[in-house]
Amino acid sequence: MQPGLPALDAFPRKLWSRLGSRLLKSAQAGEMNYPDALGLMSLRKALAGYLLVARGVQCRPEQIIITSGYRACLQLLSYAYLKPLDQVWMENPAYFAARDLMLAQGQEVIGLAVDEQGLQVELGLQLAPKAKMAIVTPSHHSPLGITLSLPRRQQLLQWASAQQSWIVEDDYDGEFHYLTRPLPALKHLDNDQRVFYTGTFSKTLIPSLRLAYMVVPESQLALISGLCKTFDNSTPWLEQALVAQLLSEGHFTRHLKKMRNLYQQRRLWLSAALQAQFGHHASLTVQAGGLHLVLELQQQQDRELALHLNQQGLAVHALSAWATGPILRQGLIMGYTNIRSAAEAQALAQRLYQACEIYLRD
Ligand SMILES: Cc1ncc(COP(=O)(O)O)c(C=O)c1O
Repeated sequence: MQPGLPALDAFPRKLWSRLGSRLLKSAQAGEMNYPDALGLMSLRKALAGYLLVARGVQCRPEQIIITSGYRACLQLLSYAYLKPLDQVWMENPAYFAARDLMLAQGQEVIGLAVDEQGLQVELGLQLAPKAKMAIVTPSHHSPLGITLSLPRRQQLLQWASAQQSWIVEDDYDGEFHYLTRPLPALKHLDNDQRVFYTGTFSKTLIPSLRLAYMVVPESQLALISGLCKTFDNSTPWLEQALVAQLLSEGHFTRHLKKMRNLYQQRRLWLSAALQAQFGHHASLTVQAGGLHLVLELQQQQDRELALHLNQQGLAVHALSAWATGPILRQGLIMGYTNIRSAAEAQALAQRLYQACEIYLRD
């Protein structure tokens, strides 16, 4: 039940090996040399087309840099713009790995609660109006799944423009909305060029690729490109070339369509099984998209509970371990993408309930 993993059984292995062997056979000397530290141009071009159509992000291919993962994007940005003790807004709760990276670099993380409209920008204006950066997940708040409303998007962008602060938009799973067409990315509204848009292939393909991307505002391109070269930001040619072909030949869009249908089904299986099993002992909010569910329990020891469940091989996360400030909610974060049948979902929900039983109050 590891949260955040795509369906590993549905990865297009045959296509991948066919395209891979074609590329290897035809590789020229240039492709065996050091790859461009900013990323392969064919992938950046294909991404520019894809981001415009799928996420409403308009940019030149030259503005896109390829990295070895979301945290590599954050590392570049914090090196470029942050000093120790600088304040950074994050949602509370938020992706623990981003929080830990900021803390490891000495930044002060200002955790801002989310409500049904997403990040409470107002709280940021009260607590740390001069923060240097905001790291946000507007499409689906990670991990609660809320979409940032239009008025909040505008408020956030206005703050960044007025303060000359930066916004990092983490669009980690913007492709996975099941009920309605997703809102375009926050970057779509970024008239003042304060937003660094980031995306990853960890959810749309597989995380072992270690491939992510970032759209850099024109005014910052020289600085960020220079840092990419200094730090040798490059990622392997073969994987980039393969993903570029998936995108440009239409395979990627077809794969996403297939995955959306699959995830909708798998999500239904797990949510129905959890509801049937836990009844009034837990509350399950099924958001419009994403790759995981959050089960909120009537008990206040989610870390202890998660540890206990993980010892039994269930691989869930404690919601409170994702706090970026005071712990506001407790529960279990669990993935459903690798559950292959309704029967498997029921068996998992039953195992989960039995393992939780001693922690549940009536
Ligand atoms: C909120 C969030 N952002 C970004 C990522 C992607 O990280 P990466 O590109 O390093 O795999 C993840 C992966 O789990 C995530 O949960």
